[in-house]
Amino acid sequence: MKLKVITSNPGKVREYQNSFTHLGIEMEHLHLPYDEIQTFQLEEVVEKGMVEIRKKGVTDFIIDDSGLFIDSLKGFPGVWSAFAQKTIGNEGILKLMKNVSDRKAEFKCCIGCDFGGETIIVTGICNGTILTTEKGKEGFGYDPIFSYDGKLSFAEISTEEKNNFSHRGNAVRLLISELKNRSLI
Ligand code: IMP
Repeated sequence: MKLKVITSNPGKVREYQNSFTHLGIEMEHLHLPYDEIQTFQLEEVVEKGMVEIRKKGVTDFIIDDSGLFIDSLKGFPGVWSAFAQKTIGNEGILKLMKNVSDRKAEFKCCIGCDFGGETIIVTGICNGTILTTEKGKEGFGYDPIFSYDGKLSFAEISTEEKNNFSHRGNAVRLLISELKNRSLI
């Protein structure tokens, strides 16, 4: 059984493959650009994205829209996470957080899955903190500055460990239980 992961980010594909291997589901990385609307809800981006992709005739796929929401920055970068990562990067976020004591942040991942013609949309959350320096070489994006336990960054742990705690790992667990409820796997 195969699921296409439609993304430009190989890091996401690695994480999905790690989560689905035990179910015998293989991930196929598909680069297929689609329009992402600008809105305040990750779920809305995913819903619209699924419509766009289905119009192209693609079935049995996963897309995900994720964002880092930092309390002291009133939820920034949030739905602008991709833009902020490309422009100011982790260094810029750390500069904005200089001398800020409230370092709480939430990572969110909304997955849209088309499987056997059915639509499943789930959102996973990981609460954590923004570190004061970048740490680690694993992962991608904000991983070096986000910590789920206040000590280690997501870039200091393996893909498998990250999946145990992360927003994407939590979303995948919801997705798998919904696929099972619907007897799709
Ligand atoms: P996207 O639009 O879902 O691809 O993600 C928005 C931004 O958040 C991009 O810059 C990603 O690199 C970053 N991002 C998404 N998921 C993660 C993650 O699991 N760890 C670190 N950064 C992430």
